Amino acid sequence: MINQVQDIKQAMACFGTGVTVITATHAGQDFGMTCNSFNTVSLEPALVLWSLRQGSSNRAHFEAAGGYTVNILSHTQQPLAMRFTKGSHEERFAGLELVRLPTGRPQIVGSTAWFDCELERIIPAGDHDIMLGRVLNFGVNADATAEPLIYARRQFGRLGV
Ligand SMILES: Cc1cc2nc3c(=O)[nH]c(=O)nc-3n(C[C@H](O)[C@H](O)[C@H](O)COP(=O)(O)O)c2cc1C
Repeated sequence: MINQVQDIKQAMACFGTGVTVITATHAGQDFGMTCNSFNTVSLEPALVLWSLRQGSSNRAHFEAAGGYTVNILSHTQQPLAMRFTKGSHEERFAGLELVRLPTGRPQIVGSTAWFDCELERIIPAGDHDIMLGRVLNFGVNADATAEPLIYARRQFGRLGV
């Protein structure tokens, strides 16, 4: 194996996913990051998960916040996918229309769907942490144009419908 990490990343990238921006609030500060490791876990109770790189500068914020909101990006929100990978929290949220949820967390308007979650447990897993969440509240965008953004082989796309 010459470059096993790069090889396995390439193989994992063949798994097509949606794209989310996970948002949270702590000490009066909104923060968020792009994430495609989101997945559903359980229906009763409603549980979801995503994995967070342990070295991420957001790691401590997400733990302290005690919860997070999963914003499933629509294909028209593709620019947000890269915007939420870099820069300050202020730059990431600049000019975005937000709905303030009852938990105080920001939900990004125009997302295809969203889940507001309490952080149930952090499960260490290699170089990432699995952020298991219990769904407190959720919504689906009734606008038929809010078709989900798709990500596979490191490329963004949309459903061929
Ligand atoms: C499509 C896409 C999906 C991503 N998914 C994840 C993820 O599931 N977990 C993660 O920790 N980082 C993920 N990232 C990277 C983070 O968005 C990025 O590292 C973070 O916003 C940078 O802030 P940080 O330096 O504080 O980690 C993803 C990036 C992209 C472009």
